[in-house]
Amino acid sequence: MPKSDIVLKVYKKLLFSTEWVSLEFFATGWPAFFQEEKNRFVTIFLFTSLFCQYFDLGICGTFWISLLLLFFRRIFAGGFCNSTKRLDGQVVVVTGSNTGIGKETAKDLSARGATVVLACRDIVKAGKAALEIRAATDGDVEVLKLDLASFVSIRNFAEKLKKKYPKVHILINNAGIMTCPNWKTEDGFEMQMGTNHFGHFLLTQLVLPLMKHGDPARIITVSSHGHYGGKIPFDDWDYVKQGYDPFVAYSNSKAANVLFTRQLSKELEGTQIQVFALHPGCVATELMRHIPFGSYMMLTIDFFVKTPLEGAQTTIHCATDAIQHKNLYFSDCVPMTPSDLVMDDGVAKKLWEVTESMINKTSQ
Ligand SMILES: NC(=O)c1ccc[n+]([C@@H]2O[C@H](COP(=O)([O-])OP(=O)(O)OC[C@H]3O[C@@H](n4cnc5c(N)ncnc54)[C@H](OP(=O)(O)O)[C@@H]3O)[C@@H](O)[C@H]2O)c1
Repeated sequence: MPKSDIVLKVYKKLLFSTEWVSLEFFATGWPAFFQEEKNRFVTIFLFTSLFCQYFDLGICGTFWISLLLLFFRRIFAGGFCNSTKRLDGQVVVVTGSNTGIGKETAKDLSARGATVVLACRDIVKAGKAALEIRAATDGDVEVLKLDLASFVSIRNFAEKLKKKYPKVHILINNAGIMTCPNWKTEDGFEMQMGTNHFGHFLLTQLVLPLMKHGDPARIITVSSHGHYGGKIPFDDWDYVKQGYDPFVAYSNSKAANVLFTRQLSKELEGTQIQVFALHPGCVATELMRHIPFGSYMMLTIDFFVKTPLEGAQTTIHCATDAIQHKNLYFSDCVPMTPSDLVMDDGVAKKLWEVTESMINKTSQ
């Protein structure tokens, strides 16, 4: 599917979907919203005052325009998780938690009393994040090295995790790479599919035995609305026939995330493990680092996107109060309808079997 069609599909979903409009969205979450946005309000108020002074709109104008901007900002900030659930005694693994959405998720779950394992490829960055989280929550936070673009690293991580923690309660497959050049993982897979899907698939297989302990457990995979234009390139994993488009490859890997969750729910039927895939929203993080001027672009659209804490809310909801839904896909803390392709059980099963066999072949 061409890039323009993918963009169109995502925007149609974002603009015309009313699935997020619930009474709860407007009735709750305001204290957390005000807490997160308090610095921005000062800017909004100053900007509006200057604007109203220039156009002679007076104090009334300043009030109403500020209120309108605040209302829009509330919508862009998205759904907030209102759970007060504690996670004392639970072990949570969060991949890619040295920055962005993953770091905020880890911080929140640590504040709820969980032991949090930061599964990251850059130990130095992860160490700094662990210090920051411990300072904020006084919680038990550990760093373990995990490079999802290397099957050896994933197996080493799982071995270390098993030695240290006999039980894992929540696995959050959060790490992701977006629109990078046509790189390959250590095992020869296209980098975005290799990291976002194959890496998390193997990781989940290896962590699963630690999660079948009889107590409630959850596996959460952070996908994206980008999946709406995604397809699984079953006969062209290396993009030799269709040519490599970084944007298309990202969408495909995010479709794989939701399909993986679909088949996982079948594999885990009858167990105590619930599974979720989700879209975090459009969030100001380092994800656009491979797009030329990506970080500057983020700055210019800052008002219209979520902060990392706001972007972590749906993951936190899925880690605490959410109940597995037939769509298996959440956004803004409510279930959403994903694309027709990723609702297809046949495609989900095929992807599962092909992934398993490709990983086995590579590991022989
Ligand atoms: N931001 C958005 O608007 C948005 C929208 C939809 C979906 N998402 C999804 O949300 C998730 C989190 O992204 P983010 O926005 O927080 O982006 P981010 O700030 O770039 O964080 C991504 C994290 O993934 C890690 N990572 C990348 N490749 C890895 C690998 N091979 N092994 C281990 N870790 C790896 C990064 O580690 P390094 O720091 O070492 O690179 C980083 O910790 C991703 O799955 C993304 O696709 C984000």
